[in-house]
Order: sequence, then C-alpha cells, then structure tokens
Amino acid sequence: MPINIHHFERCKQQGKPIVALTAWEFSSAQVLDQCGVDLLLVGDSLAMVALGYTSTLPITLDEILHHAKAVRRAVTQAFLVVDLPFLSYQESPQQAMHSAGRALKEAEAQAVKLEGGHTEIVQTVRYLVQMGVPVMGHIGLTPQSVNQVGGYRKQGTDAESQSRLLNEAKALEEAGAFSIVLEHMPPELAQQISRTLAIPTIGIGAGPHCDGQVLVTHDLLGLSEWRPPFARAYANLRETMTDAVKRFSDDVRERRFPG
Ligand code: KIV
Repeated sequence: MPINIHHFERCKQQGKPIVALTAWEFSSAQVLDQCGVDLLLVGDSLAMVALGYTSTLPITLDEILHHAKAVRRAVTQAFLVVDLPFLSYQESPQQAMHSAGRALKEAEAQAVKLEGGHTEIVQTVRYLVQMGVPVMGHIGLTPQSVNQVGGYRKQGTDAESQSRLLNEAKALEEAGAFSIVLEHMPPELAQQISRTLAIPTIGIGAGPHCDGQVLVTHDLLGLSEWRPPFARAYANLRETMTDAVKRFSDDVRERRFPG
C-alpha cells in the first residue's frame, strides 16, 4: 500500500522512527522506494549538490518540478514531498498556493515543504493546509536564509533562539503542518521540540531524539565532494565511480573495450 499522510502520526504514536531521504532522479528514486524509505523529499539541496549552484537560492520551481516529475514516475510506495524553492512562496499565501498547487498537479507530490517559522510563514502554512495542501515545516538551519544568517551555522545555540525555535515549532504544528524538519540544532533542543509536539519531527544534524531522520542521499552514498559534519556516508560511491571510469578509460585506450 502506498504511504499516506496518516502513516506519520502512527509512526509517532508507536515510537517507530521515520526514514526519509532526498530523491532527484528516476533510477535512484526507484532504489530508495524499493528499499522501503518512508518519505522521499525532492529537496532544494538539489540546487547545490546536483546542479552545481553555490546556494539553494537560484533554483526555480520549474527546475525542481522537472526533477520531481522524474521521481514521481519512479515512486510507488514512499510519501513524496517537494520543496518549494526560494521566492516561490514568500510573497503571499496565494503565491505559495499557486506554487504548491503546481507541485501537487504537475509532479503529483503529496505534500510541500517550506522553510521558516516566523509569523508570515505560519500564516502561509495555515492557508495552504486550509486549502487542502499537506505541509511539512523546516526550522533551525534554513539554507534559503543563508545570506541573512551569514553561513550554514548551527542554530538554537543560546537560550533566546532555543525558545524562539520551540515557539516556531508549536506555531507550525498549530497551523496544521503534518511534520517538521529540524536542521542543525543541539540534540537537547530537538528532543524538547520532539517531546512537545504531537506531530513527528524529522532531524538532520539534530541528534538522535527526533521522530525520524533525513539525509541528502548523495551524502549517504559518499558521492558528494563535501558533506556536512553531521552526515554519515554509508558507502564511498565517489571512489567506486572514479575506479570504474578509470578502468573503462584504460580499456578504451588500450583497445580492450569492446572485447
Ligand atoms: O533540501 C533538502 O535536501 C532538505 C533536507 C536537508 C531536509 O531540505
């Protein structure tokens, strides 16, 4: 049975950790889906990791949707979430609805993810949910705010920002978000937020106490040239790929391929 939104509240109630990964293209999305990953996110990290932009800011909704459609064609079981990129939802709730609507119609996404937890974003989340769009929140390190924050720093490192993040999480839940990504914050804060909320938290660089964990798939596979300190590589595909390409090149140059 394909996963629907109720799966996540059941996981939280039953204390079953949620597995989430990013997906950007057909073949690897098929593998992730067949491995039984609960939630696949067409994250805007795609901008930096797969498209080579220097931040997530330049990627457009059209670019994200191009990838999301390929992932949709691959996925039969996992719950599909699409990131709304910078400037596709910040102007107004109506702009957000238009962008989210495109994700749901064109890529058949089951939900969208928005960054931030301040008042305007909470209002937008409430509007989307009222209009029938499931929303995942994202607080802590929010890469779309890199220019305002001045880097990709850990968030919630002092009492004031900890209390702000806790309040943002509560406000997003109250506005109807079905889940919230907690990125790069102290584990104790993520634990407090996870205990306070009835909806599941999905952590990335937020310690072991979240209700689920998400990683950028390229980081998990060891394919990225750089990965954040909190990511764990479960393979070294960069090395495997380099070795395969070198052996192929040698075989071609030595006329060993084709045999
Ligand atoms: O864009 C992305 O990949 C994300 C995850 C890091 C949660 O937002």
